[in-house]
Amino acid sequence: MAFSSREGTLYIEEVSAVELARELGTPLYVTSKRKLDENLKSYREAFPDALVFYSVKANDNLAIMKIVSSYGFGAEIFSNGELYLALLAGFERSKILFNGNSKSPEEIRMALRTGVVFSVDSIEELDNLFEIANEEGKTPQIAFRINPGVDPKTHPKVATGLRESKFGIPIERAQEAYEKALKLRMKPIGIHFHVGSQILDLSVYEAALTGIYDLPARLEKMGIDLEFINIGGGLGIDYTGSGAPTPKELANRVKPIFDEITSGLKSKPKLYLEPGRSIVGNTTVLLTRVNLVKNAYKKFIAVDAGFNLLIRPTLYGSYHRVAVANKMDKFEEETYTIVGPICESGDILAQDRKLPKVERGDLIAIFDTGAYGFAMSSQYNGRPRCAEVLVNGKRWDIIRERESILDLLARQRIPEWLF
Ligand code: LLP
Repeated sequence: MAFSSREGTLYIEEVSAVELARELGTPLYVTSKRKLDENLKSYREAFPDALVFYSVKANDNLAIMKIVSSYGFGAEIFSNGELYLALLAGFERSKILFNGNSKSPEEIRMALRTGVVFSVDSIEELDNLFEIANEEGKTPQIAFRINPGVDPKTHPKVATGLRESKFGIPIERAQEAYEKALKLRMKPIGIHFHVGSQILDLSVYEAALTGIYDLPARLEKMGIDLEFINIGGGLGIDYTGSGAPTPKELANRVKPIFDEITSGLKSKPKLYLEPGRSIVGNTTVLLTRVNLVKNAYKKFIAVDAGFNLLIRPTLYGSYHRVAVANKMDKFEEETYTIVGPICESGDILAQDRKLPKVERGDLIAIFDTGAYGFAMSSQYNGRPRCAEVLVNGKRWDIIRERESILDLLARQRIPEWLF
């Protein structure tokens, strides 16, 4: 088991959360390699014929990415920085997909030199790419990101396939995009979409594939040899304990319609997908120490992590399960709201939760924080970022050092006239 309770203490594999926090201090992100392996294997088993591109934005820790790349997965990147990290983590160049709706000339240049496949987000972006590809003497392999205009039935801030979303090319203009690419002598080889994140209703993927239904055949008629259709990421995870679809269930829903769309094609395109959250989300807990318990109009537990380290609850109203890591066997008798140290009333990590009686010094664990947790952290309110640890059986390793006050100063300059 990746996470368990032993004699009242939370364990991450064979390592006690209480001892880790004592030794390394808090706040602390702790990732279970065992859980990560489980998730990676379940994708590999569910999609033996597909190529999985890990979405780097979910968690760009190099150690974690190295484990992902060891499975032969590719990487889905959205910036120069992510490209650099993906290369360092050992992802093969030919298995890197460069997405993005606003790529800078520098990013395009670096990606061209690295030789990755581009997902072009707009017809307008083709001009930028064409110009720089010419200068570099390259013929980029490209896909277009199509917006099939479907409702992913998820939080509006993580819905990307709606008609009004900034991402992708309206399906009605898809053919025009490919025609232009051919005219510019680029190499269109794929179709891409990504309709949203934390998707729990799998019919969304069917709707998106239905949205592009006859496009592959139309492209073939234009002389395009499709190498892949990329259905994006987005598979939701079980934050609340009420269940979430597995990669296998996703495969069962997607494969029949994918086969239907592609069966008549001469070029047998591969299925690509780009999961982030469903690979790393449930691998990690955030450990945070109780500074005090406050009795006001409500009972507040004030901890040492806030939205500087986990912004999902503040930004999206997201629910994360919590537990008292040193009182796992105690009866849940009080209702608390867990808040961070940030000077904003929106700094709430968990609202109205039933927990055992909590005291100063207790250790709170916030679950399912491996995706978009540390990755979205900041130094707001003068708080250096916390450390990250990887647990593998009995051993643990620091995979990102805790920042210090010096990191707050790192790039700052005071003009001499201010001295
Ligand atoms: N592909 C593309 C083009 C994406 O934009 C994303 C995520 C993914 C793949 C991976 O999606 P996933 O499998 O992780 O759902 N910060 C938000 C989520 C933002 C997702 C952005 N795009 C959150 O914490 O819920």
